[in-house]
Amino acid sequence: MRGDRWLLRTENTTYAVALAGDGRWAELTAWGPHGAETGPSALDWSRRTHFITPADLAPAEYIPYGLRPFTGADLVAQRPGEERGVWWTFTGATRQGDSSLRLVFTDETLGLTTALCYETVPGTDVILRWTELTCTAETGLRLERFDSAAVNIPVTGGARLTYLTGQWSQEFQLTQLELARGSFGMSSAQAVPGHAYAPWLAVQDAASPAEGATPTYGVALEWSGNWHITTDAEPGGAVRVRAGRVPHEGAVRLAPGGTLTTPRLACAFSPDGLDGLARVWHRYERRLTGDRMHRPRKVLYNSWEATGFDVDAATQLELAGIAAEMGAELFVVDDGWFTGRSDDTGGLGDWYTDPASFPDGLDHFIAQVRDLGMDFGLWVEPEAISPASGLYAAHPEWVYRLEGRPATLVRNQLLLDLGREDVQDFVLGTLDRLLDDHAIGYLKWDMNRPPTERGRPGGGPVEEQDLDAAHVAGYLRVLDHLRTRHPHVTVEGCAGGGGRIEHATLARTDVVWPSDNTAPLDRLAIQYGYLHAHAPHTMSSWVTDAPGVFDPRPRSLGFRFVTAAAGVLGIGADIRHWSEERRAEAAGWIARYKEIRDVVHHGEARLLNSPADATCGAQYEEPGGGRVVVTAWNTGRLDGAPLVPGRAARLRLRGLDPAARYRDPASGVTYSGAHLVHSGVPFAWTERYDAELVVLLRE
Ligand code: GLA
Repeated sequence: MRGDRWLLRTENTTYAVALAGDGRWAELTAWGPHGAETGPSALDWSRRTHFITPADLAPAEYIPYGLRPFTGADLVAQRPGEERGVWWTFTGATRQGDSSLRLVFTDETLGLTTALCYETVPGTDVILRWTELTCTAETGLRLERFDSAAVNIPVTGGARLTYLTGQWSQEFQLTQLELARGSFGMSSAQAVPGHAYAPWLAVQDAASPAEGATPTYGVALEWSGNWHITTDAEPGGAVRVRAGRVPHEGAVRLAPGGTLTTPRLACAFSPDGLDGLARVWHRYERRLTGDRMHRPRKVLYNSWEATGFDVDAATQLELAGIAAEMGAELFVVDDGWFTGRSDDTGGLGDWYTDPASFPDGLDHFIAQVRDLGMDFGLWVEPEAISPASGLYAAHPEWVYRLEGRPATLVRNQLLLDLGREDVQDFVLGTLDRLLDDHAIGYLKWDMNRPPTERGRPGGGPVEEQDLDAAHVAGYLRVLDHLRTRHPHVTVEGCAGGGGRIEHATLARTDVVWPSDNTAPLDRLAIQYGYLHAHAPHTMSSWVTDAPGVFDPRPRSLGFRFVTAAAGVLGIGADIRHWSEERRAEAAGWIARYKEIRDVVHHGEARLLNSPADATCGAQYEEPGGGRVVVTAWNTGRLDGAPLVPGRAARLRLRGLDPAARYRDPASGVTYSGAHLVHSGVPFAWTERYDAELVVLLRE
């Protein structure tokens, strides 16, 4: 048994796992480019420190408390009322070529079988890992910790961690720290991934630069509820990332004969720094989108910032008319369209069109929008409920609550217990009714309120509940239903901005809303972070009125259009007040975007510089390399030199064929690939000219 080794191979990488510790654990021996597995393990930390067990030092793939008592275990299990700990042995491996692997460990005394599962994702450099825990004990088991996986990172000099952090309106701020020793944890207890941290992490050797040819490892957790990702730089020098869901009740009960399957942890590798890792994630997310990649994402107009809760058909139609003239393809009425919703104190749960807003009915309005040549979309917040709603009067028991305790209001609303089947059926019925009865092609699913008093009175013993997992299952059930029952409907995921963005959501929606902050420079930073983890075709982005609610720094209309064109372009400004000239300029940008959106959404993206630089951008290369689109911004950062018209800032492109020739039809200039990579595209920024969309055609 000793000496067993298994290899998993992706497009460009190998992940090598060997049995160790006399069959008591499996450990990582190599993870990197093909061939990295030939030679002694770079993760052998044994004998590096004393007073510790071999299992504590090992780069173990997954190891329970019991075998690994000191440095942090991935699994903590017990029979109710008894000591904690698992002492298992290896009992078998199943594999399919080098694309899937299942390693089984059994503790017969406790009554637990644990399968470590691996699957490569074709066409990507991603390996999915998860764990299946089966209870063979007659008593059932209590699981206090049941991570999806532990990922050992082959670094030698401490780790540089790159993560995405923030708050509402400042999501996805790309942040770094160096971890030589100790722990760094990110988590959410909000029943959604949350605004504070994305369930995503990149790890590099602290001694190497973040960009360039630096081996870069990444993990992302596919879970829409509570989670943690914890990185330990351990005493012996090992850097280990543990990730998984965190049950609201503190532990889950595994019933006799039951199996718990953890969420999947996607593990990615790129030899090309954070930017290379971003491309691995982009490719993976294009795969998650599947066939729906071939559906062009329509240019949207959303009236939320223009009219707020004051939704009336006449004003909406006026906006729709202007939007259509500018080239918008989809008109979305956001919050405020339904009964009782004149502000944020009421209405949620009563999903019926407000006759005061739409005196001739919603269908009449939709027909008018469609006559303008646009598709129609609607905002909903299916999990939300206003205390003043008819739904609450009829079903107070559908809300998360604690008997005898006051309810906390967040944004004046409560949250439905979507883990209940009757609540799910209500939500499904509501969405079916709306989508069957009206010609709706787009649904924006929002979620603005995390649970506070998270209880289900009458729902059985609390220690047997798993409310977080139940809510996630309900949410995914409804999203899956939308896809099968209403396949033509495009779904946008939103949670007070970017509060619920992870792979389970991205696999079931078409676009997501990264942030409510659309102010130009703030948005640029948000998108810069977002694109490190997520693909451009998922990134909804609006052009809104400047300077904007959050960020007073002025930028041009062009700047805002190029920013939104870096993902899925929409307009959210009050275009009633735009001059003819401004509308014509907008129409020009929209027309240009329509010509290149396929390259932005399907191409290989490279992030050029960062918003902290005076000039930054993104490069999108069409599959096959025929067209290269460059979005470029002058961030207004002062670099000591005056803005002199004609003085060129340069943005160096990457990855192009040096011998090929690329023509910019707008300027008539032809560049060699070598010139674009070595010297860059020139931009003669002025105070008003602060962004550009360049299309380069390979000759
Ligand atoms: C949330 C969303 C916004 C908007 C409002 C409506 O804040 O993130 O885009 O839909 O709700 O109430």
